[in-house]
Amino acid sequence: MARIPQDFIDQLLDRTDIVSLVDARVPLKKSGTDYAACCPFHDEKTPSFTVSPTKQFYYCFGCGAHGTAISFLMEYDRLEFRDAVDVLAQNAGLEIPEDAQTQAPSGPPRDPLFDAMNLADRFYQTQLRRNPDVIDYLKTRGVSGAMAKQYGLGFAPDSWDALTRQLRDSASGARAGLLIERDGGGFFDRFRNRLMFPIRDTRGRTIAFGGRTLGDDKAKYLNSPETPLFHKSDHMYGLFEARQAMRDLPRLLVVEGYMDVIALAQHGFANAVATLGTATTASHLTTLFRHTEEVVFCFDGDAAGVRAARKALDQSLPVMRGARRVRFLFVPEGEDPDSMVRGEDGTQRFQAAIDAARPASAVLMEALTDGLSLDSPDGRATLIEKARPYVNALPPEAFRAELIGELAQLARLPADDLRTMYARTPSTSSAAVDKGSTQQKTRVTPVSRALSLLFADSALAERVRDSAALREADTPGATILAEAIEFFAQTPNVSVSQWLERYREHRFFDRLQELAATTPPGDAESRAQEFDETVARLGSNTASLASLRRRYDELVAQQNRGPLDAAAATELQQIHQQLRRYRQQTG
Ligand code: UTP
Ligand code: MN
Repeated sequence: MARIPQDFIDQLLDRTDIVSLVDARVPLKKSGTDYAACCPFHDEKTPSFTVSPTKQFYYCFGCGAHGTAISFLMEYDRLEFRDAVDVLAQNAGLEIPEDAQTQAPSGPPRDPLFDAMNLADRFYQTQLRRNPDVIDYLKTRGVSGAMAKQYGLGFAPDSWDALTRQLRDSASGARAGLLIERDGGGFFDRFRNRLMFPIRDTRGRTIAFGGRTLGDDKAKYLNSPETPLFHKSDHMYGLFEARQAMRDLPRLLVVEGYMDVIALAQHGFANAVATLGTATTASHLTTLFRHTEEVVFCFDGDAAGVRAARKALDQSLPVMRGARRVRFLFVPEGEDPDSMVRGEDGTQRFQAAIDAARPASAVLMEALTDGLSLDSPDGRATLIEKARPYVNALPPEAFRAELIGELAQLARLPADDLRTMYARTPSTSSAAVDKGSTQQKTRVTPVSRALSLLFADSALAERVRDSAALREADTPGATILAEAIEFFAQTPNVSVSQWLERYREHRFFDRLQELAATTPPGDAESRAQEFDETVARLGSNTASLASLRRRYDELVAQQNRGPLDAAAATELQQIHQQLRRYRQQTG
């Protein structure tokens, strides 16, 4: 689809006021410098949904929903990006530029990593067509040609350089994880003699591969390493294909294996996705719930499966809001979803297993009551305390009420009493939840800190003298920070939303939005100071620190010789503080 030019998006957001846009759908009340309402994205009685007229951005303190005017329309009116832009353009009396509707996408410059992926994808698929043995293998596993095509299955030949010889840009091939660089120079193929499963992002671009050995390699499955395109704790296999196959996804099934996904699709369950050889992460859950209201995890019925289920449950609780549901299906010992659906009456058996999958609250109760004797008052008191961090981690909605109801029964207390008990001592024991890995805290790096300070007051950009130095900083995101600084410095009076919209396709988009959502504590002045220091440190980390230390030593020496004048004394104190803060921050 044609890409809409960025300057049109800028113009559109200039003409749009997010406050009136939201207010027309969710009546807002002024609250300080912002506007507030009860959140339209989750059930609540007191308003925690805020809209900032300066940032042109909304954020809910209750459920974390956030975004620009375009995002709001996408979420609230359930529109695709293009349609949301259409609506805003109509409201603003603007016309989407003709060439954007007809011409080929001008797009961002081509990414050599995607080019390498593309080429590999085509190469592996061609190889599959040319190797009847591999097609036979797929047949014995019940995979039809149509299914192989839909999932883009391929074959990596048993050769050290079959792909290497195809890829002209070997360095990009290596960065994309397809080739491996030899110690003595040169490259070789990572995937050899394997059935290849392309892993696609939600736009259908191949970002990685999984390969199943067709020989006796000890590693049955081999995945692409982490690359700039691929982060295995964020991506799930099959999500793109599921979205292609089904218009609505009322439910997603999460399984462990590539072959499980394909076998399920082959038998009519087109809504299965797999994590890529890792445990379920909070980021997976966030992605899943962006596409569906119900997640059914399929795990082995053995002890390891139960442990994995509890971990997945831990990751799910913080995002269980509104109508979201999580259930667990335990596959009989010795089977996996693949063997189950392919067995006798497989489709019916598997459907029955889905229908009977256990709700999250039941699995949680089982974990909490493990080893407790509920016949004794002691046991019941322990249960109440064990449950506290979980109850407190939950948004105050349906699932929390359900859980308190079940706890009340087991603890033999009225639910209202229990509710007051949990309300009285606010989450002092939330540390227990953190330890139990219920919540995955995102690390605040200096770059992300600087970005959120900048988003809170974009005029700070004008204080940075040398943003180019930042690009050299060997830290993830430093380039984005430099881009943001340059953008805000060159185009004052532009909103944070306008900047953010440039990054909608970027893999850090969600993270950037999160950073824009909250304002770091402190007054404007202390935020400005923190910003200056963070940026200075990132930009010329070693150089500036060294000169700071040198100046410090000088002043101290001077002080030893006799009293400092007022200016020097202030300078010394400031440097002292800066150095101390630096030590604190770098630990
Ligand atoms: P399984 O060993 O259960 O394989 O691994 P499977 O999916 O049933 O494979 P088939 O049926 O023998 O072909 C489940 C998942 O764990 C990851 C893969 O994602 C695999 O699909 N895995 C497994 C690896 O990443 N590496 C391995 O060596 C094995
Ligand atoms: Mn299997």
